Amino acid sequence: MYLVTGASGHLGQLVIGNLLETHQIPASKIIATTRKPETLAALKAKGVDVRAADFDDTANLVKAFKGATRLLLISTDAMDRPGHRLEQHKNAIAAAEKAGVEHVLYTSLPKPETSAILFAPDHAGTEKALAASGLKGWTVLRNNWYFENLFYSLPSAIKSGTWYTAAGEGKIAHIARDDLARAAAAALASDKGGKNTYTLTGAQEYTTEEIAKLVSDAVGKPISVVQVPLEGLVQGLVDAGFPEPVARVFGSFDTNTAQGGLAGITGDYRKLTSNDNTPFASWLAKNKQAFLA
Ligand SMILES: NC(=O)c1ccc[n+]([C@@H]2O[C@H](COP(=O)([O-])OP(=O)(O)OC[C@H]3O[C@@H](n4cnc5c(N)ncnc54)[C@H](OP(=O)(O)O)[C@@H]3O)[C@@H](O)[C@H]2O)c1
Repeated sequence: MYLVTGASGHLGQLVIGNLLETHQIPASKIIATTRKPETLAALKAKGVDVRAADFDDTANLVKAFKGATRLLLISTDAMDRPGHRLEQHKNAIAAAEKAGVEHVLYTSLPKPETSAILFAPDHAGTEKALAASGLKGWTVLRNNWYFENLFYSLPSAIKSGTWYTAAGEGKIAHIARDDLARAAAAALASDKGGKNTYTLTGAQEYTTEEIAKLVSDAVGKPISVVQVPLEGLVQGLVDAGFPEPVARVFGSFDTNTAQGGLAGITGDYRKLTSNDNTPFASWLAKNKQAFLA
């Protein structure tokens, strides 16, 4: 039995789609857990076992995970207080162990121990918790930045013609969220045991200037990249209405990029899926209207 947590999220839905379609796993062998089971009526109708589970609700987690052999723990998006997300992930790992799950897979971040991203300790801590657990095996999927993250910065950069960044010449080996779902489904559906770490990246890495040029050419609008110091970037985000802690998290993305935290291409996507990555150019061609919308 294969279990996917966070099954109503973007990645969770794509992983389940891949289990069913790419790997032809019968719906009766899939458990989907979510805080919102009512949103997964279509999967339930197909025969997937849809269960309620919230990592904050430890009383019900073991029951929700019962019967699963391999479990994909999708990292949550809890950013309300430092340490909350790590607590949630530790709750999920402890419950998986108690429920008799053999193998847990986890969606982490590249180089979490040294990353400057302010929430990287959640990922480093979860990886440590997996290593310290009594689970028979685990797989860490260190997911690089989604192409989709460009939706945070590019629509306003396209509109104003200016992209403010503190990332300097740092490169990111972005990857499509679809590709990460394909890789997670392949790792979940395999019978590979033991303790494994994959770093999933795109096939190319780009600086902010290079991304700006590619997007600018695709959408037919000029984008000029302006390098600013970190404090200037944070102040700009605060002036634009972001609460300072959120602005600092965004700022830390650029610091991490400048330090090379998301640079470096690996062959791990191909190793897991036997496929080539979706190239940025074809992803962009599909999504350019959304940038302009
Ligand atoms: N590599 C990257 O560039 C990147 C970008 C964005 C996010 N991420 C990380 O990858 C995760 C999946 O990405 P996504 O695109 O699918 O994001 P998303 O659509 O925002 O999904 C958020 C996920 O968090 C789960 N979640 C939130 N609170 C939870 C709780 N208390 N207990 C259990 N699950 C909880 C949600 O599950 P339900 O709603 O079904 O309960 C859902 O799967 C994110 O949560 C985040 O940690 C990575």
